[in-house]
Amino acid sequence: MSNPFRKDFPILDSTFNNKPLVYLDNAATSQKPDSVIKAVEDYYRKQNANPYRGLYQLSVAATDAYEEARSITAEFINAKSSKEIIFTRNSTEALNLIAYSYGRSVLKAGDEIVIPISEHHSNILPWQQLVKEKGAVLSYLYLDKNGYLLEEDIENKITERTKIVSIAHVSNVLGTVYPIEKIIQKAHSVGAVVIVDTAQGIPHYPVDVKQWDVDFLVFSGHKMLAPMGIGVLYGKEELLDNMPPFLTGGEMIEYVYEQEATFAPLPNKFEAGTPNVGGAVGLAEAIRYINQVGYDTIQNIEEELRDHALKELSQIPDVVVYGETKAGRDRCGVISFNVEGVHPHDTSSILDADGIAIRAGHHCAQPLMNYMDVAATCRASFYFYNTIEDIDTFIHSLKKVRRWLGYGN
Ligand SMILES: Cc1ncc(COP(=O)(O)O)c(C=O)c1O
Repeated sequence: MSNPFRKDFPILDSTFNNKPLVYLDNAATSQKPDSVIKAVEDYYRKQNANPYRGLYQLSVAATDAYEEARSITAEFINAKSSKEIIFTRNSTEALNLIAYSYGRSVLKAGDEIVIPISEHHSNILPWQQLVKEKGAVLSYLYLDKNGYLLEEDIENKITERTKIVSIAHVSNVLGTVYPIEKIIQKAHSVGAVVIVDTAQGIPHYPVDVKQWDVDFLVFSGHKMLAPMGIGVLYGKEELLDNMPPFLTGGEMIEYVYEQEATFAPLPNKFEAGTPNVGGAVGLAEAIRYINQVGYDTIQNIEEELRDHALKELSQIPDVVVYGETKAGRDRCGVISFNVEGVHPHDTSSILDADGIAIRAGHHCAQPLMNYMDVAATCRASFYFYNTIEDIDTFIHSLKKVRRWLGYGN
């Protein structure tokens, strides 16, 4: 399968052990196209200055570049206004911001926060801290054996006591695409606020915050072609407006007195300190690139990769795939698996010798690992610049793993 986008990603020409790189760790971070690399370089060559503060032209250029990135991001997710876009370092920081600012001001003893058992640690730990402080309760939605949320849990655990529901759009371990609109409707029917962590969703699926009517949304630039160190928090303006600041210091103030301060309006209230302008410029270029490729194309390519990989994996004896093993229904190209009798770290190292990059470990989802009764898994995750040949190389190498470790097959 020839892939017209591959040539845009210079790192994909690398070799390891004289073998061409097969990069299948896209759920951890994506690779970057030339246009993003160049946009960041151009910014530092031509526009770099501290934004907002300077009255000279270069500082104004940096401010304009940063604010343009904010507008492009707002349009990308169909936010009502760019005031609803707060730049953070990543999804983790955005989730912490919501927990510490919104959560701390609304939660009371006995209130409940509901999350699925499959969440990434960054959507668990801020809530654990918060419920401890407030005497509130962290309640879990569990999964069936194919990785889908239990219907009865959605029905029975989101109740009048629930104040916050926080859920990943797509599981970073099982690749399950969760029924976000249904969850939002259910949560809103009991008066709860919904946070969607689309760190694993927005690289592959379009997101429209108005259509979802979601209250908060978070994602990380680095998983969708942009540099590391830039992330996004979307929040409905009326919610953000009423929230206290998270971090305090420069850039987020209106006026500072000896004992008091007043804060800048949105979005600056939540952006203390010098921002990552280069990262925001890179994110804006990544969005342009994704829009140019188009989500339909991204999905068509990824579905073909996913279907091929699931079919091939099902034909290897001694390989177990976690979650949905069939292609189709609510499942994207993030595949967790194990080779029977082999530690995932060994599988990953053997594949690495063939130039193949997969992830092995608990994937920052230890509660899910415990729930599935496994210590760790291997994970192969695809993006639209991968090819059927990448999958075939991966499968070919995987078939050797048990033999290399002395098993008979
Ligand atoms: C679903 C999900 N949420 C949040 C995160 C955290 O992202 P970051 O490390 O960019 O903050 C990840 C990272 O893998 C993730 O997969």
